[in-house]
Amino acid sequence: MINLGILVSGNGTNLQAIIDSIEAKRLDARIKIVISNNPNAYAIERAKKHHIPVFIINDKHFHTREDADKHLVELLKSHRIELVVLAGFMRLLSPLFIKSFSMKIINIHPALLPAFPGLHVQKKAIDYGVKFSGCTVHIVDEGVDTGPIIIQAVVPVHSDDTEKTLAQRILIEEHRIYPQAIQFFTEERIEIKGRKVVVRNCHKTEDVLENPKVEIFK
Ligand code: GRF
Repeated sequence: MINLGILVSGNGTNLQAIIDSIEAKRLDARIKIVISNNPNAYAIERAKKHHIPVFIINDKHFHTREDADKHLVELLKSHRIELVVLAGFMRLLSPLFIKSFSMKIINIHPALLPAFPGLHVQKKAIDYGVKFSGCTVHIVDEGVDTGPIIIQAVVPVHSDDTEKTLAQRILIEEHRIYPQAIQFFTEERIEIKGRKVVVRNCHKTEDVLENPKVEIFK
């Protein structure tokens, strides 16, 4: 069992997937707090529905981002948080925050990193013309979407995809790999070697994903 602090800013479908996985006993974790920097985030309603304590932080109440982050760190430490889970948290964290939870902050990104870091990445993938995209759970370091990769899932990009249809296809996979990544932490199977994450005793697959489907070999 691991204590989670989940940081959100928006809809909270990943938060919901984590809640559902815990309730279904697929994930052995406890969400001690949900913190939102957006008072209107629907994620807040989701947390409240499941009686999870919610804190709203307003950066404007602090002089600097560091001050705000000091407050955040204190809040998380006082709740004995062991893993900080960024679930659509739309704000950069200061080095102070990252050092305070070194290698204990994870994020989910809706692209196959290191391709398409940053924002609006489903549109960037479509505009670039890639045939596959997907999602990545990674450790958060001081860069933008640069930390060691824990797990990725691949989805095809179709020629008639819009940002929305691709985002929806990716989200389905996000909701599978994010709870799984957290469960790896719970089971203490994560080993970080430089930029590589080794998941001990993981299931290996030889599956090959192809898109468009290869037709000439049956
Ligand atoms: C997801 O696409 C996630 O990959 C990105 O922000 C989005 C959050 O969605 N970091 P939700 O709030 O979990 O529905």
